[in-house]
Amino acid sequence: MATMRAACVERYGGPEVVQLREVEKPRPKQGELLIRVVNTTVNSADWRIRSLEVPRGYGTLMRLAMGFSKPRQPVLGSEISGVVEELGEGVEGFRVGDAVIAVAGMGMGAHAEFKVMSAAERVIAKPASLSFQEASALCFGGLTALHYLRARAKVKAGEKLLVIGASGAVGIAAIQLAREFGAEVTAVCSGGNAELVRSQGARHVIDYTREDLTARSEQYDVILDCVGSVEYGSVRPLLKQGGRLLRIVSSLAGQFTALFQGRLSGHRVISGVGTERTEDMRYLAELAAQGKYRPVIDSAFPLEGIRDAYTRVESKRKRGSVVLDVSPAPVHPRADGHIR
Ligand SMILES: NC(=O)c1ccc[n+]([C@@H]2O[C@H](COP(=O)([O-])OP(=O)(O)OC[C@H]3O[C@@H](n4cnc5c(N)ncnc54)[C@H](OP(=O)(O)O)[C@@H]3O)[C@@H](O)[C@H]2O)c1
Repeated sequence: MATMRAACVERYGGPEVVQLREVEKPRPKQGELLIRVVNTTVNSADWRIRSLEVPRGYGTLMRLAMGFSKPRQPVLGSEISGVVEELGEGVEGFRVGDAVIAVAGMGMGAHAEFKVMSAAERVIAKPASLSFQEASALCFGGLTALHYLRARAKVKAGEKLLVIGASGAVGIAAIQLAREFGAEVTAVCSGGNAELVRSQGARHVIDYTREDLTARSEQYDVILDCVGSVEYGSVRPLLKQGGRLLRIVSSLAGQFTALFQGRLSGHRVISGVGTERTEDMRYLAELAAQGKYRPVIDSAFPLEGIRDAYTRVESKRKRGSVVLDVSPAPVHPRADGHIR
């Protein structure tokens, strides 16, 4: 039996529950690709699943979805940059050696040397403008920010956007996308991250360690809360008529009340889980190829250092994304930059 290294989560708990194991190397079936993982990320979803530290009300739902006493899929990780290693029968549009980006989504399994994906969805060519490390971090923050800002809030040019938690993976993606949409961003972060968020396109910065955001008189069209630190009631005066509060971190009860909140004041409160669509991945890759979108890498760890990577993620202080170096990046990857 051919084997590969994989980081396995054998029960819910702290970083110590992650063990590096030799497991069976997967084989691609009809219509599937085997991808050699060059880089993957440890993101906030991996941390939440591993630790079961989820917003209030989601604990039981998470166990039902992921496994009651331990994750049914022990290999977590949803983002991949890598190289096509083998083609299953009938696969068209990819060749062995192609540099790709893949999103495994809730199927996970990316914290391993190899991952099988359906060739039909959520696998795209890697833009040459991004390193493999950057490419692995293209989608988690990017797809979430795109879903909330474009699909849900329909952010328009000239609108004012307040991003709370602006220096995290989703926050940085939101700043870059808002800049692309022509919106004006005010970033909320600690003073040490002010320069970073300005470099990403934020026009104004509020240091939440020194200033009470809710005491401000300025108003915004859209507030994106990537921390879960505000309630609708506390930020209602900050929203213009027609304003939208996007709560990407919300309790289960908060998700239900969001359906009704704000209506009387002409506001909308939007929460829920983002989508992972192949066409949105292509959109982000196109922006990256044009130099308009670039993930920020906080830190990189070898696969065997995954516990340290988790520790960094759950510090809640990371700036952008934490990546894992799984296998060496090819020097001249094939089809690098050919977006399709
Ligand atoms: N709904 C969905 O579909 C969805 C999708 C993806 C992620 N999420 C959730 O969204 C959240 C954000 O994810 P992420 O990966 O972007 O997080 P992250 O990268 O871990 O965020 C870390 C950043 O948050 C900042 N921060 C911490 N406390 C803050 C506060 N009180 N005010 C302002 N900034 C603060 C930190 O900056 P400082 O050091 O400056 O404080 C740090 O740079 C997570 O809870 C995740 O579970 C939801």
